[in-house]
Amino acid sequence: MNFNDYKEYISEKTMMGPNSVRILEELFSRYPLELASDDEILDLGCGTGLTSLVIAKETGAKVYANDLWVNAEDNAKRFTEWGIGEQVIPVCEDANNLHFNEKQFNALVSIDSFHYFAGKAGFFQNKILPFMKDKSAILIGIPGLKNEYTGRANELLSNWLGDEAYLFKSPNHWKEIIGNHDRIETVETWEMGCFNKAWNEWLTSDHEFARGDKQHFETIIKPYTCFVGIYVKLK
Ligand SMILES: C[S@@+](CC[C@H](N)C(=O)[O-])C[C@H]1O[C@@H](n2cnc3c(N)ncnc32)[C@H](O)[C@@H]1O
Repeated sequence: MNFNDYKEYISEKTMMGPNSVRILEELFSRYPLELASDDEILDLGCGTGLTSLVIAKETGAKVYANDLWVNAEDNAKRFTEWGIGEQVIPVCEDANNLHFNEKQFNALVSIDSFHYFAGKAGFFQNKILPFMKDKSAILIGIPGLKNEYTGRANELLSNWLGDEAYLFKSPNHWKEIIGNHDRIETVETWEMGCFNKAWNEWLTSDHEFARGDKQHFETIIKPYTCFVGIYVKLK
């Protein structure tokens, strides 16, 4: 994937946090998805659909762009403007209560959103696994805590995140949370390498939330947090 192909789409209007295209770039270079045009991918927590655009262009597959806070009509408008209206289907549903078909998806990708709803044991098995085909792949990139601070999110991050600090968990902790199942072949979690680039591109954007994050970057965000990569391969 060539990051420069997507530069024109990345702005304070489409970004909702550290540059999600950088996170996707790392996930796709580590675990390339090889899919056909009639395969189907779920972009879970797609926000404004910037990630859905990249997933659609990079894989050629059909993408279901699901989000809770951004409504499907707004995303549909953007997808039409971007010329991907035929390939990307906007959906507005809570990840806790999705209505897709059993074993519908060949892959699931979720950037900067999985931590909001999936941080409890059993979520993956009960809420995600039923929609995934055999041999499918799941790629997730989310903000979290560095392994050495596992379990200390409230103590270390509250001045920045308030009562949402508990959402940040380490790569080791996420491996435990995803857990096991007889349909799961492997679960890998790691601290991602794109941290500096993705944060720098967010902090230098004109987004109003970036201004708040800037105040905490050197003292909290950089020393204690990371991006957690999660890869799950099904049997
Ligand atoms: C920081 S934004 C990231 C958006 C996009 N993936 C990106 O990286 O630009 C987090 C997204 O998670 C979504 N989200 C949070 N809770 C959710 C839930 N329960 N079900 C579905 N989406 C949810 C929100 O709607 C929001 O758009």
